[in-house]
Amino acid sequence: MTNIGITEKNSDKVVTILDRVLSDEYVLYTKTRGYHWNVVGTQFNDLHKFFESQYTDLEEIIDEVAERARMVGGYSLGSLKEVLENTSLEEDTTKGTDAAHMVRSLLSDHESIIRKLRKDLKDCDEKYGDMGTSDYLTGLMESHEKMAWMLRAFLEEK
Ligand SMILES: [Fe+2]
Repeated sequence: MTNIGITEKNSDKVVTILDRVLSDEYVLYTKTRGYHWNVVGTQFNDLHKFFESQYTDLEEIIDEVAERARMVGGYSLGSLKEVLENTSLEEDTTKGTDAAHMVRSLLSDHESIIRKLRKDLKDCDEKYGDMGTSDYLTGLMESHEKMAWMLRAFLEEK
């Protein structure tokens, strides 16, 4: 039994948040990796490598989020079925997507994750008394802000 000063009820709420975060990271990881494989165009070399560096970061994040759920007394999702049930993002199953659309789609997913994390990190602290997860999600939000900035720069947008 986890005895770290967070009630079971609050721990369940935090784990529910972490389940959704983990699922979103998984879907975004898969989309980014798919784009790494399928990107075409004059920027192929740059984008192929750039997507690889982003999915490598996302893979690390997936592990951290899953283990965070264990640290606060919950279980981590361990199946793709659960990931698809818990994600707030849409997968991309289209073929022959152009490079700009790929970058735009990833940027939109990162920004969606950032907006949700901004609320989640506040709730974890103020509603559920879990400052550790709140702090972790703050850093995670910053990582997504950096990835989003890089995608935006590719689109020559501010
Ligand atoms: Fe590869």
